[in-house]
Amino acid sequence: MPPQTTRRLAAVVVIGLSGLVSAAFAQAPVPDSPAIEQRVDAMISKLTLEQKIDLIGGEDSMFIRAMPAAGFPRLKMSDGPYGVRTWGPDTAYAGGIALAASWDPELVRRTGVTLGQDARARGVNFLLAPGVNIYRAPMNGRNFEYFGEDPFLSAHTVVPYIEGVQSQGVVATVKHYALNNQEWDRHNASSDADERTIREIYLPAFEAAVRVAHVGAVMNSYNLVNGVHATQNPFLNLQVLKKEWGFDGILMSDWDATYDGVAAANNGLDLEMPDAKFMNRATLLPAVQSGQVSQATIDDKVRRIFRTSIRFGFLDRAQLDLGKPLFNQQGRQVALDDARESIVLLKNEGNLLPLDPARVHTVAVIGPIAWPAVTGAGGSSTVTPYESVSLMAGLSNLLAGRVNVLYAGGLPTLEDFFRETRFSSSSAGGSSQADHSNAPNIKVEVFHNGTFSGPPDLQSAARIAHWTPSEWTPAATRRQSIRYTATFMPATSADYLIVAASGGDDAFKLLLDGKVVIDQPRREGQAPKSIEVPMTAGRSVQVELDYVPNSTTPDIGLGIRAVPDLVSDEAKQIARQADAVVIAVGFGPSTESEGYDRSYQLPYGQDALIREISAINKHTVVTLTGGGDVDTHRWLDAVPALLHNWYPGQEGGTAIAEILFGVRSPEGKLPISFARSWEDNPTHDNYYAPAVAPGEVPHVKYAEGVFLGYRYYTSMNKKPLFPFGYGLTYTKFAFSNLAVSPQSGAGEFSVSFDVANTGARAGAEVAQLYLGDPSASIKRPERELEGFQKVRLDPGQSQHVTLTLDKRSFSYWDETAHDWRADPGKFTVFVGDSSEDTPLTASLTLNR
Ligand code: BGC
Repeated sequence: MPPQTTRRLAAVVVIGLSGLVSAAFAQAPVPDSPAIEQRVDAMISKLTLEQKIDLIGGEDSMFIRAMPAAGFPRLKMSDGPYGVRTWGPDTAYAGGIALAASWDPELVRRTGVTLGQDARARGVNFLLAPGVNIYRAPMNGRNFEYFGEDPFLSAHTVVPYIEGVQSQGVVATVKHYALNNQEWDRHNASSDADERTIREIYLPAFEAAVRVAHVGAVMNSYNLVNGVHATQNPFLNLQVLKKEWGFDGILMSDWDATYDGVAAANNGLDLEMPDAKFMNRATLLPAVQSGQVSQATIDDKVRRIFRTSIRFGFLDRAQLDLGKPLFNQQGRQVALDDARESIVLLKNEGNLLPLDPARVHTVAVIGPIAWPAVTGAGGSSTVTPYESVSLMAGLSNLLAGRVNVLYAGGLPTLEDFFRETRFSSSSAGGSSQADHSNAPNIKVEVFHNGTFSGPPDLQSAARIAHWTPSEWTPAATRRQSIRYTATFMPATSADYLIVAASGGDDAFKLLLDGKVVIDQPRREGQAPKSIEVPMTAGRSVQVELDYVPNSTTPDIGLGIRAVPDLVSDEAKQIARQADAVVIAVGFGPSTESEGYDRSYQLPYGQDALIREISAINKHTVVTLTGGGDVDTHRWLDAVPALLHNWYPGQEGGTAIAEILFGVRSPEGKLPISFARSWEDNPTHDNYYAPAVAPGEVPHVKYAEGVFLGYRYYTSMNKKPLFPFGYGLTYTKFAFSNLAVSPQSGAGEFSVSFDVANTGARAGAEVAQLYLGDPSASIKRPERELEGFQKVRLDPGQSQHVTLTLDKRSFSYWDETAHDWRADPGKFTVFVGDSSEDTPLTASLTLNR
């Protein structure tokens, strides 16, 4: 991922008559044709082999290079999927998992259209989005960018997204192909799954992107699949993507995901990004000369780049549309709708929500996510919006003049936590007094190697507080290791929270009284790490922090504080004064991100915050920010109401406030299952690869097979905490009149039913159709999503819904025939509002 760079308008041709021209600029790609292929042939014939090889490696991080000899312009890329990221501020949408939670393909299409407009306003040819990797476990640092655990929902979300983007003359790039379901050790780990699992769970969204939405580009992932890196994987790239699905666009690598130039060239990779480290002249010229790589293989890559560019009009018009506003108000409205439609109400005991502004005179907003706005998480998707609305601001705007909105962060920021931790000197053990001095009591030994050996330089420090939240730090030019030694003197007997954080791929070990309690090995990225340890007043604890930075200056922080001292007095006081409290907790760019996996537990101190504040004020609502499931068991029983708002984009604060105070009814539905505990998750025993010797490939076994998420819970008759498809509203819906037609047949079936709003206010429901094959010849999930429709109804209104099932709906992947297969016989149709709650059932017979 490249650093944020500034816009370079001057370099691009300025077009007059912007109003007229901009309308014409919204151009969907044209289908391939003999005329396009002839034009491509003519262009290819103008290039030398050297020039062709140059073209298939990117330049300046985000560009395909120009080839003036062929009349080919330089093409610009930008990250997504939360907004057009790379070239300065832009609209931050509620992307990824939030869009999936809306279950509204038309909203997704509108989002794609405005993303495409935003790209055109910046002259971007390729949007590096959407991401469609399936949600296996809550820890994956990039779940927030993707569309959840179900291949059908993902496929029906990705198609309108791509169609929307591409309707504006911008190539969408579906990523990360494939099985990139964790960030942990993403360059080295192999995702090992059987073909059925790959076809049924992990590929359908990519397949729909290619076959239905005709996506212009696909991005290979970092990881290996069944032992072979994705960028050189013949099964994924040649057999499935290009041969079976007929993909004729550009297959590009993720940034630095190419590991072998010849293998990548021969196994389907068309474009190495961000530059030609492997697919370059030095590697490929001799390989072509020796016949290891054919000329035709190189030509095919160039052909794909030229063909795609012609189809999208890049050779015939300017991509930069100066008539489009950079601060796009249409996009802003879409971002607001994204947030409104995606927020899921998970719990609402005693109908605490919606809060009534006539009765709630004072509301307290507390928590690290209440302000400033957390619009997205970390990594290449991070968008800097021109404006954003935090929850505190959203509530204050909505309730101005009616309800008093009080705010407290409630917990120290990490920087404060580190800064405010006091240590005694390492020789001072035994004193019964806590040391509140600012004396430089920490012994700092700096070794001029990475192994703590030889004589160190001796220094001293008052605190370990060098940490700044940063994702990618420049690598160290000199190796060093630093040992901090000190004594911590607990002032009270209590559980103490210990948090340690360091930069990017630094490594550290924290030892308490000689025992390792936190071990952060060197690998790409990391989240702050925390543990809770009981300590006794006056009994000193020896602290040793062994730190091996991979940056030139130390970037590490260590904080220790008694849990009862974590939550600020201000937060407790305003919780007492308020008629209702909203606690905003969850993750953000420095705790959930591309490049590393996050914790299942909420970040440091947040469990304590919820416990303490909800004990003070019974009218407490928790709003969660994050890319998926979190561990709620320490506090859920104490909290009457819980909302999940994912990463809600720049307008999130407005949307959450509207839902809390009943301006709108919540309508999001979970695109994932919430487990009762991490142990209950079917990937629990095999999410992380077993340890391997240095240099060996860690293998992650997808041992759960197709029994992922609700497919597992419903098949094992195990109750999740909140099921896939679930979400409460402020009104009530009833399902009736299920009819299947024909009752038996071999072709399409239509499933129809009525959905009625039987409650007292307007709202939206997502009708979900699941299909089960109890007589299948192999073990299949008890039910699988095969249709859904969102209906928006006023009180008393009802709607007749018809959904269609086709051959593929009934099929599983037959490992022997290497094809889709449906077993004839009786199938069960389930209709309802979640994977667990399906009041309507019927059966049908599939004939041969
Ligand atoms: C990410 C991609 C992204 C690319 C370019 C990589 O780190 O994995 O998703 O598109 O950077 O920024």
